[in-house]
Amino acid sequence: VIKPVIMCGGSGTRLWPLSRKAFPKQFIPLYQGKSLFELTVERVSNLGDVLAVSGDEYRFFVQEAADKLGVELPQLLEPAGRDTAPAMALAAFFDGEADDLILFCPADHFIPDALRFQTMVQEAQKLADEGWIVTFGVQPGLPSTAYGYIELGEKISGEARKSLRFHEKPDSKTALEFLSSGKFLWNSGIFLIKRSVLLNALNEFEPDIFNACQSAMADVVQDGSFWRPGDSFASAPKKSIDYAVMEHAKNIAVFPFNGVWSDVGSWNAMFALSEMDDNGCGKIGVAENIHSINSENTLVHASERRFVVTIGTRDLVIVDTPDALMVSALDQVENVKQAVAELEVAN
Ligand code: GDD
Ligand code: MG
Repeated sequence: VIKPVIMCGGSGTRLWPLSRKAFPKQFIPLYQGKSLFELTVERVSNLGDVLAVSGDEYRFFVQEAADKLGVELPQLLEPAGRDTAPAMALAAFFDGEADDLILFCPADHFIPDALRFQTMVQEAQKLADEGWIVTFGVQPGLPSTAYGYIELGEKISGEARKSLRFHEKPDSKTALEFLSSGKFLWNSGIFLIKRSVLLNALNEFEPDIFNACQSAMADVVQDGSFWRPGDSFASAPKKSIDYAVMEHAKNIAVFPFNGVWSDVGSWNAMFALSEMDDNGCGKIGVAENIHSINSENTLVHASERRFVVTIGTRDLVIVDTPDALMVSALDQVENVKQAVAELEVAN
Protein backbone atom coordinates (compact mmCIF):
# COMPACT_ATOMS: atom_id res chain seq x y z
CA VAL A 1 0.00 0.00 0.00
CA ILE A 2 1.22 3.49 -0.82
CA LYS A 3 -0.06 6.35 1.32
CA PRO A 4 0.55 9.72 -0.29
CA VAL A 5 1.09 12.52 2.22
CA ILE A 6 1.14 16.10 0.99
CA MET A 7 3.09 18.55 3.10
CA CYS A 8 1.49 21.93 2.58
CA GLY A 9 2.10 23.94 5.73
CA GLY A 10 5.05 26.02 4.52
CA SER A 11 4.88 29.72 3.77
CA GLY A 12 7.36 30.84 1.14
CA THR A 13 7.98 34.52 0.47
CA ARG A 14 10.38 34.17 -2.47
CA LEU A 15 7.38 34.82 -4.71
CA TRP A 16 6.38 37.99 -2.89
CA PRO A 17 4.12 39.94 -3.44
CA LEU A 18 2.10 37.02 -4.81
CA SER A 19 2.93 34.49 -2.09
CA ARG A 20 2.18 35.63 1.48
CA LYS A 21 2.16 33.92 4.82
CA ALA A 22 -1.63 34.20 4.84
CA PHE A 23 -1.88 32.86 1.28
CA PRO A 24 1.23 30.88 0.35
CA LYS A 25 2.20 29.95 -3.18
CA GLN A 26 0.95 26.35 -3.07
CA PHE A 27 -2.66 27.58 -2.87
CA ILE A 28 -2.48 30.28 -5.55
CA PRO A 29 -3.92 29.39 -8.97
CA LEU A 30 -0.78 29.53 -11.08
CA TYR A 31 -1.18 27.08 -13.90
CA GLN A 32 -4.31 26.85 -16.05
CA GLY A 33 -6.44 28.05 -13.15
CA LYS A 34 -5.12 25.39 -10.79
CA SER A 35 -2.92 25.72 -7.74
CA LEU A 36 0.21 23.64 -7.26
CA PHE A 37 -1.55 22.03 -4.29
CA GLU A 38 -4.49 20.96 -6.49
CA LEU A 39 -2.11 19.63 -9.11
CA THR A 40 -0.28 17.66 -6.42
CA VAL A 41 -3.53 16.11 -5.16
CA GLU A 42 -4.45 15.14 -8.72
CA ARG A 43 -1.01 13.67 -9.33
CA VAL A 44 -0.98 11.38 -6.29
CA SER A 45 -4.67 10.45 -5.84
CA ASN A 46 -4.36 7.41 -8.09
CA LEU A 47 -1.61 5.98 -5.92
CA GLY A 48 -3.65 5.76 -2.69
CA ASP A 49 -5.70 7.64 -0.10
CA VAL A 50 -4.19 11.05 0.37
CA LEU A 51 -3.49 12.76 3.69
CA ALA A 52 -2.54 16.43 3.96
CA VAL A 53 -0.33 17.76 6.75
CA SER A 54 -1.05 21.42 6.93
CA GLY A 55 -1.17 24.45 9.17
CA ASP A 56 -4.37 25.23 11.02
CA GLU A 57 -4.56 28.58 9.21
CA TYR A 58 -4.57 26.87 5.80
CA ARG A 59 -7.29 24.28 6.47
CA PHE A 60 -9.94 26.02 4.40
CA PHE A 61 -7.64 26.34 1.38
CA VAL A 62 -7.08 22.60 1.55
CA GLN A 63 -10.77 21.90 2.09
CA GLU A 64 -11.76 24.10 -0.84
CA ALA A 65 -9.31 22.32 -3.14
CA ALA A 66 -10.60 18.91 -2.00
CA ASP A 67 -14.20 19.98 -2.67
CA LYS A 68 -13.26 21.34 -6.08
CA LEU A 69 -11.54 18.06 -7.00
CA GLY A 70 -14.23 15.91 -5.40
CA VAL A 71 -11.86 13.97 -3.16
CA GLU A 72 -11.86 13.14 0.54
CA LEU A 73 -8.87 14.76 2.10
CA PRO A 74 -8.24 14.28 5.81
CA GLN A 75 -5.94 16.93 7.23
CA LEU A 76 -3.50 16.75 10.10
CA LEU A 77 -3.34 20.30 11.38
CA GLU A 78 -0.33 21.84 13.05
CA PRO A 79 -1.11 24.73 15.39
CA ALA A 80 2.23 26.23 14.26
CA GLY A 81 4.66 24.82 11.71
CA ARG A 82 7.78 23.07 13.05
CA ASP A 83 9.17 22.38 9.56
CA THR A 84 9.05 19.11 7.67
CA ALA A 85 10.60 16.59 10.10
CA PRO A 86 7.82 17.00 12.70
CA ALA A 87 5.21 17.22 9.90
CA MET A 88 6.40 13.88 8.52
CA ALA A 89 6.59 12.36 11.99
CA LEU A 90 2.94 13.24 12.63
CA ALA A 91 1.93 11.55 9.39
CA ALA A 92 3.98 8.47 10.29
CA PHE A 93 2.14 8.19 13.62
CA PHE A 94 -1.26 8.53 11.91
CA ASP A 95 -3.32 5.42 11.21
CA GLY A 96 -1.69 2.56 9.37
CA GLU A 97 0.59 -0.45 9.35
CA ALA A 98 4.33 -0.50 10.01
CA ASP A 99 4.94 -1.84 6.47
CA ASP A 100 2.95 0.85 4.63
CA LEU A 101 4.95 2.92 2.21
CA ILE A 102 4.46 6.64 2.64
CA LEU A 103 5.03 8.94 -0.32
CA PHE A 104 5.86 12.38 1.06
CA CYS A 105 5.22 15.12 -1.45
CA PRO A 106 5.81 18.84 -1.19
CA ALA A 107 2.77 20.84 -2.26
CA ASP A 108 4.67 23.44 -4.20
CA HIS A 109 6.21 21.57 -7.10
CA PHE A 110 5.35 21.67 -10.75
CA ILE A 111 5.48 18.21 -12.37
CA PRO A 112 3.53 18.32 -15.61
CA ASP A 113 3.51 14.59 -16.43
CA ALA A 114 1.41 12.94 -13.71
CA LEU A 115 1.36 9.49 -15.32
CA ARG A 116 5.10 9.36 -15.68
CA PHE A 117 5.39 10.44 -12.05
CA GLN A 118 3.10 7.64 -10.89
CA THR A 119 5.05 5.06 -12.86
CA MET A 120 8.31 6.32 -11.38
CA VAL A 121 6.92 5.97 -7.84
CA GLN A 122 5.70 2.45 -8.56
CA GLU A 123 9.10 1.50 -9.92
CA ALA A 124 10.72 2.74 -6.71
CA GLN A 125 8.33 0.78 -4.52
CA LYS A 126 10.50 -2.34 -4.33
CA LEU A 127 13.46 -0.38 -2.94
CA ALA A 128 11.30 1.22 -0.26
CA ASP A 129 9.90 -2.21 0.65
CA GLU A 130 13.47 -3.39 1.15
CA GLY A 131 14.00 -0.65 3.73
CA TRP A 132 15.64 2.05 1.64
CA ILE A 133 14.71 5.70 2.12
CA VAL A 134 14.02 6.47 -1.50
CA THR A 135 14.78 9.94 -2.80
CA PHE A 136 14.20 11.14 -6.35
CA GLY A 137 17.17 12.98 -7.81
CA VAL A 138 17.00 15.73 -10.40
CA GLN A 139 19.86 16.52 -12.81
CA PRO A 140 21.21 19.86 -11.54
CA GLY A 141 21.23 22.70 -14.04
CA LEU A 142 23.01 25.39 -11.99
CA PRO A 143 24.89 25.66 -8.69
CA SER A 144 21.72 26.45 -6.75
CA THR A 145 21.96 26.89 -2.99
CA ALA A 146 18.22 26.29 -2.58
CA TYR A 147 18.33 22.50 -2.86
CA GLY A 148 19.73 19.45 -1.18
CA TYR A 149 22.50 17.60 -3.08
CA ILE A 150 22.84 13.83 -3.17
CA GLU A 151 26.14 12.18 -4.08
CA LEU A 152 25.68 9.13 -6.28
CA GLY A 153 27.21 5.92 -4.98
CA GLU A 154 27.22 2.32 -6.18
CA LYS A 155 24.40 0.84 -8.16
CA ILE A 156 21.65 -0.90 -6.17
CA SER A 157 19.43 -2.18 -8.95
CA GLY A 158 18.20 -0.83 -12.26
CA GLU A 159 18.81 2.89 -12.28
CA ALA A 160 18.78 3.21 -8.50
CA ARG A 161 22.02 4.18 -6.77
CA LYS A 162 23.05 4.34 -3.17
CA SER A 163 23.54 7.84 -1.76
CA LEU A 164 27.08 8.43 -0.50
CA ARG A 165 26.11 11.64 1.21
CA PHE A 166 23.27 14.10 1.41
CA HIS A 167 24.16 17.75 1.76
CA GLU A 168 21.26 20.13 2.38
CA LYS A 169 21.48 23.62 0.88
CA PRO A 170 25.26 24.02 0.45
CA ASP A 171 26.90 27.45 0.23
CA SER A 172 27.57 28.66 -3.30
CA LYS A 173 31.21 27.57 -3.38
CA THR A 174 30.28 24.02 -2.36
CA ALA A 175 27.32 23.98 -4.76
CA LEU A 176 29.68 24.85 -7.60
CA GLU A 177 32.07 22.03 -6.60
CA PHE A 178 29.18 19.56 -6.46
CA LEU A 179 27.87 20.67 -9.83
CA SER A 180 31.22 20.50 -11.61
CA SER A 181 32.09 17.09 -10.13
CA GLY A 182 29.12 15.65 -12.04
CA LYS A 183 28.54 13.22 -9.15
CA PHE A 184 25.55 14.90 -7.54
CA LEU A 185 21.83 15.17 -8.14
CA TRP A 186 19.43 17.66 -6.58
CA ASN A 187 17.06 16.27 -4.01
CA SER A 188 13.57 16.75 -5.44
CA GLY A 189 12.10 16.82 -1.92
CA ILE A 190 9.87 13.80 -2.58
CA PHE A 191 10.48 10.75 -0.40
CA LEU A 192 9.14 7.18 -0.49
CA ILE A 193 9.69 5.49 2.89
CA LYS A 194 8.30 2.58 4.83
CA ARG A 195 6.53 3.91 7.91
CA SER A 196 8.67 1.84 10.30
CA VAL A 197 11.89 2.92 8.56
CA LEU A 198 11.03 6.60 8.99
CA LEU A 199 10.02 6.16 12.62
CA ASN A 200 13.22 4.23 13.41
CA ALA A 201 15.32 6.94 11.76
CA LEU A 202 13.54 9.71 13.66
CA ASN A 203 13.91 7.79 16.88
CA GLU A 204 17.62 7.34 16.24
CA PHE A 205 18.55 10.83 14.99
CA GLU A 206 15.88 13.10 16.49
CA PRO A 207 14.37 11.47 19.58
CA ASP A 208 12.87 14.81 20.69
CA ILE A 209 10.86 15.05 17.48
CA PHE A 210 9.92 11.39 17.70
CA ASN A 211 8.71 11.68 21.31
CA ALA A 212 6.87 14.99 20.88
CA CYS A 213 5.02 13.73 17.81
CA GLN A 214 4.28 10.33 19.30
CA SER A 215 2.56 11.86 22.30
CA ALA A 216 0.87 14.55 20.20
CA MET A 217 -0.66 11.81 18.06
CA ALA A 218 -1.70 9.80 21.13
CA ASP A 219 -3.86 12.84 21.98
CA VAL A 220 -5.05 13.60 18.44
CA VAL A 221 -8.62 14.95 18.27
CA GLN A 222 -10.80 14.45 15.22
CA ASP A 223 -13.23 17.10 14.01
CA GLY A 224 -14.71 15.91 10.70
CA SER A 225 -11.86 15.81 8.22
CA PHE A 226 -9.64 17.85 10.55
CA TRP A 227 -7.30 16.04 12.93
CA ARG A 228 -5.61 18.11 15.61
CA PRO A 229 -2.52 16.68 17.33
CA GLY A 230 -2.15 17.28 21.07
CA ASP A 231 -0.20 20.11 22.72
CA SER A 232 3.07 18.23 22.98
CA PHE A 233 3.61 18.92 19.27
CA ALA A 234 4.77 22.41 20.30
CA SER A 235 7.84 20.90 21.97
CA ALA A 236 9.11 19.29 18.76
CA PRO A 237 12.34 20.99 17.61
CA LYS A 238 11.92 22.95 14.41
CA LYS A 239 13.90 21.11 11.75
CA SER A 240 13.52 20.02 8.18
CA ILE A 241 13.71 16.31 7.37
CA ASP A 242 16.79 17.03 5.27
CA TYR A 243 18.85 18.17 8.26
CA ALA A 244 17.09 15.87 10.73
CA VAL A 245 17.36 12.56 8.88
CA MET A 246 18.68 12.72 5.33
CA GLU A 247 22.10 14.10 6.25
CA HIS A 248 22.63 11.22 8.73
CA ALA A 249 20.86 8.12 7.42
CA LYS A 250 22.97 5.44 5.74
CA ASN A 251 20.13 3.70 3.89
CA ILE A 252 19.30 6.36 1.32
CA ALA A 253 18.72 5.31 -2.26
CA VAL A 254 18.41 7.75 -5.11
CA PHE A 255 16.19 7.10 -8.04
CA PRO A 256 16.56 9.38 -11.07
CA PHE A 257 13.57 11.69 -11.36
CA ASN A 258 11.81 10.87 -14.57
CA GLY A 259 10.36 13.89 -16.36
CA VAL A 260 10.09 17.62 -15.83
CA TRP A 261 10.34 18.95 -12.28
CA SER A 262 10.37 22.50 -10.97
CA ASP A 263 9.97 23.69 -7.42
CA VAL A 264 8.75 27.10 -8.60
CA GLY A 265 10.87 28.66 -5.90
CA SER A 266 11.68 31.93 -7.63
CA TRP A 267 10.30 34.43 -10.12
CA ASN A 268 12.74 33.07 -12.69
CA ALA A 269 11.30 29.58 -12.28
CA MET A 270 7.82 31.05 -12.52
CA PHE A 271 8.77 32.86 -15.73
CA ALA A 272 9.80 29.54 -17.25
CA LEU A 273 6.35 28.10 -16.55
CA SER A 274 4.31 31.08 -17.69
CA GLU A 275 2.25 31.39 -20.83
CA MET A 276 4.68 33.05 -23.24
CA ASP A 277 4.10 35.19 -26.34
CA ASP A 278 6.38 35.48 -29.40
CA ASN A 279 8.45 38.24 -27.79
CA GLY A 280 9.26 36.17 -24.72
CA CYS A 281 6.76 38.02 -22.52
CA GLY A 282 5.18 35.82 -19.89
CA LYS A 283 1.73 36.22 -18.38
CA ILE A 284 0.47 34.85 -15.10
CA GLY A 285 -2.62 35.46 -13.01
CA VAL A 286 -5.46 37.10 -14.91
CA ALA A 287 -3.95 36.97 -18.40
CA GLU A 288 -6.87 38.92 -19.97
CA ASN A 289 -5.78 41.94 -17.94
CA ILE A 290 -2.29 42.02 -19.43
CA HIS A 291 -1.47 43.96 -22.56
CA SER A 292 2.02 44.38 -24.00
CA ILE A 293 3.27 46.64 -26.79
CA ASN A 294 6.83 46.29 -28.09
CA SER A 295 7.88 44.59 -24.87
CA GLU A 296 10.41 41.81 -24.63
CA ASN A 297 11.39 39.30 -21.98
CA THR A 298 8.99 40.76 -19.42
CA LEU A 299 7.03 38.69 -16.91
CA VAL A 300 3.73 40.21 -15.79
CA HIS A 301 1.29 39.08 -13.16
CA ALA A 302 -2.08 40.82 -13.17
CA SER A 303 -4.89 40.56 -10.65
CA GLU A 304 -8.59 41.01 -11.18
CA ARG A 305 -10.10 44.45 -11.77
CA ARG A 306 -6.94 46.11 -13.03
CA PHE A 307 -5.10 46.20 -16.35
CA VAL A 308 -1.35 46.03 -16.57
CA VAL A 309 0.06 47.54 -19.75
CA THR A 310 3.74 47.39 -20.67
CA ILE A 311 5.20 49.46 -23.49
CA GLY A 312 8.72 48.89 -24.75
CA THR A 313 9.83 47.17 -21.55
CA ARG A 314 12.77 44.78 -21.46
CA ASP A 315 13.99 42.21 -18.92
CA LEU A 316 11.52 43.11 -16.18
CA VAL A 317 9.32 41.32 -13.69
CA ILE A 318 6.10 43.19 -12.87
CA VAL A 319 3.82 41.71 -10.25
CA ASP A 320 0.61 43.53 -9.51
CA THR A 321 -1.58 42.48 -6.59
CA PRO A 322 -4.43 44.35 -4.87
CA ASP A 323 -2.18 45.76 -2.15
CA ALA A 324 1.37 45.65 -3.51
CA LEU A 325 3.12 46.21 -6.81
CA MET A 326 6.64 44.96 -7.51
CA VAL A 327 8.69 46.11 -10.49
CA SER A 328 12.09 44.46 -10.71
CA ALA A 329 14.94 44.00 -13.15
CA LEU A 330 14.82 40.35 -14.17
CA ASP A 331 18.46 39.76 -13.23
CA GLN A 332 17.96 41.17 -9.72
CA VAL A 333 14.62 39.68 -8.83
CA GLU A 334 16.18 37.24 -6.33
CA ASN A 335 16.63 40.31 -4.10
CA VAL A 336 12.91 40.21 -3.39
CA LYS A 337 13.95 38.53 -0.14
CA GLN A 338 15.59 41.79 0.91
CA ALA A 339 12.36 43.68 0.23
CA VAL A 340 10.41 41.13 2.25
CA ALA A 341 12.84 41.47 5.14
CA GLU A 342 12.65 45.26 5.04
CA LEU A 343 8.90 45.58 4.60
CA GLU A 344 6.69 44.26 7.33
CA VAL A 345 3.71 44.29 4.97
CA ALA A 346 5.09 41.08 3.48
CA ASN A 347 3.41 39.05 6.13
N1 GDD B 1 2.85 20.69 7.20
C1 GDD B 1 3.95 21.38 7.04
N2 GDD B 1 4.52 21.97 8.13
N3 GDD B 1 4.47 21.51 5.82
C2 GDD B 1 5.61 22.22 5.69
C3 GDD B 1 6.25 22.85 6.78
C4 GDD B 1 5.66 22.71 8.07
O1 GDD B 1 6.13 23.23 9.08
N4 GDD B 1 7.35 23.49 6.32
C5 GDD B 1 7.39 23.27 4.99
N5 GDD B 1 6.33 22.51 4.60
C6 GDD B 1 6.00 22.05 3.25
C7 GDD B 1 6.07 23.18 2.24
O2 GDD B 1 4.76 23.75 2.07
C8 GDD B 1 6.54 22.46 0.99
O3 GDD B 1 5.43 21.92 0.29
C9 GDD B 1 7.39 21.30 1.52
O4 GDD B 1 6.98 21.12 2.88
C10 GDD B 1 8.90 21.53 1.44
O5 GDD B 1 9.25 22.65 2.24
P1 GDD B 1 10.09 23.88 1.69
O6 GDD B 1 10.22 24.85 2.80
O7 GDD B 1 9.54 24.35 0.38
O8 GDD B 1 11.51 23.18 1.47
P2 GDD B 1 12.65 23.68 0.51
O9 GDD B 1 12.16 23.88 -0.87
O10 GDD B 1 13.34 24.84 1.15
O11 GDD B 1 13.69 22.42 0.53
C11 GDD B 1 13.25 21.09 0.32
O12 GDD B 1 12.84 20.89 -1.03
C12 GDD B 1 13.89 21.03 -2.02
C13 GDD B 1 13.28 20.78 -3.38
O13 GDD B 1 12.27 21.68 -3.64
C14 GDD B 1 14.42 20.15 0.69
O14 GDD B 1 13.92 18.83 0.76
C15 GDD B 1 15.57 20.24 -0.33
O15 GDD B 1 16.55 19.27 -0.05
C16 GDD B 1 15.03 20.02 -1.73
O16 GDD B 1 16.08 20.15 -2.69
MG1 MG C 1 10.22 24.25 -1.68
